[in-house]
Amino acid sequence: MYPRHLTDFDLSQTPREYCDFLVVGSGIAGLYTALKASRFGRVTVLTKKKMEDSNTEHAQGGIAAAIGREDSPRLHMEDTLTAGAGLCDEDAVRVLVNEGPTCVLELVALGAHFDKRGEDFALTREGAHSERRILHARGDATGEEIEQVLSWKALTSSGVVIHEDIQVIDLIISGGRCYGVLARRPDGEVVAYLSWATVLATGGAGQLYKNTTNPSVATGDGMAMAYRAGAVMADMEFIQFHPTALHIPGKPRFLITEALRGEGAVLVNPAGERFMPRYHPRADLAPRDVVARAMLDEMRKGSADHIWLDGTALGSAFAERFPKVYETCRGFGVDPAVEPIPVAPAAHYMMGGIRTDIDGRTNLEGLYSCGEAACVGVHGANRLASNSLLEGLVFGRRIADSMKGLVDRSSAELRDLAMVAREGRRPFAGTAAEVRRQVQELMWSNVGILRDAAGLGAALARLAELAVFTWSDPSTGEAIETANLVTLAHLVARSALIREESRGSHYRLDFPARDDEHWSHHTILECED
Ligand code: SIN
Repeated sequence: MYPRHLTDFDLSQTPREYCDFLVVGSGIAGLYTALKASRFGRVTVLTKKKMEDSNTEHAQGGIAAAIGREDSPRLHMEDTLTAGAGLCDEDAVRVLVNEGPTCVLELVALGAHFDKRGEDFALTREGAHSERRILHARGDATGEEIEQVLSWKALTSSGVVIHEDIQVIDLIISGGRCYGVLARRPDGEVVAYLSWATVLATGGAGQLYKNTTNPSVATGDGMAMAYRAGAVMADMEFIQFHPTALHIPGKPRFLITEALRGEGAVLVNPAGERFMPRYHPRADLAPRDVVARAMLDEMRKGSADHIWLDGTALGSAFAERFPKVYETCRGFGVDPAVEPIPVAPAAHYMMGGIRTDIDGRTNLEGLYSCGEAACVGVHGANRLASNSLLEGLVFGRRIADSMKGLVDRSSAELRDLAMVAREGRRPFAGTAAEVRRQVQELMWSNVGILRDAAGLGAALARLAELAVFTWSDPSTGEAIETANLVTLAHLVARSALIREESRGSHYRLDFPARDDEHWSHHTILECED
């Protein structure tokens, strides 16, 4: 149904750039991998817009790590496995929780300032955590702090070269091995970036949905190109919807951090009643999927399109502890210190992605992935809050270590590489913007928080029609992203239809129970399917 490449090319006619390690993406996973890999060879980082345009920059709540006096990696592991609802890979989780604290301290050594209480880090709590273990910076600007430190380090590192405004189109695969990417420069020139190892740290795909907390760059490009190239994709049906995105008609769905609930804010329904204690013993700090479904239930009962998050108990401390949320709400005419914030769920995080082992290796030699683009198995069916920044560090570091031997290969192998892609392009009458809008509407209504076979089947039928768009030669970055969104939408809907049970973030109205007997395994999709 989809072409192997979005555009035709002949490598012998294509300008080339060489490096030892190529990293695509400039969030925490990409930059940390790049810095670590620069100890072993020359690293090039490609990023689609500016360095700071990533999900990392928008992360508020923080980064989870078992560093508190009462905490331990064992407890962190238990919480992660419980949230993952039986689908986490235990080895990967063990690596995450055991190596996490060291990575966080490395980040501190690089210059990241996390908030402190006295001599100790100030740790907050988020949903489904049994301990306070979330480090945060400048209140709710954790991602910004990390991104600034890593960007500065990468920019001043002699071993890392960063190219901004580069839209990657496809992977270059020869003999089953990955040798880099084909990419478009801002002036439209198509260039081959060739390397011994390519790391896709391209982030998530929140833009699949009409309502998302993700920035506009989150179009899942790395996942889609890996799929086209033959990489194994896992668990694409598991999309996390964050319960509390700001709900003001016509405005972006700005994230209202879960840490607010960790510090005492509560959800109230249109009748002004607190409702979460009726739905889960952990009340407002229940797992995100439970909270999001409870909110839908209360919205339906109250004929409303949003719920309220009441953080007024924080009073004058609100602005100091959550400055970003405070300022943003004020900008939209809501004073969260004295009135509740209108919120509704929005697509937030992709648990599935490019299948990797615990060293970030994919099934294609020379291709690695980490961060949200990857599925190493630490999140299972539902990610524990604030585990994602940690994942980027831990597995980025492991990838760097596992790539180091590759620089000994003969440079002739790269220089002599020949490859021609000709698949025949087809004209498309509509615009990329219209196709994208249709995908986002369809995903929100049919492949969202509540799913069933009829809705998923209808979505797949429409996506099959839209697949023709992926055969048109994309002449703009928007068109490349849209082709990727069409492909990923299909993978998410298809995986969601295959899994006939409810588990974690995947809820089927027609199969509402978890079914361990038949579905305790990953959903795997490959391009040949
Ligand atoms: C939040 O601050 O609520 C988001 C944190 C996360 O998604 O891990």
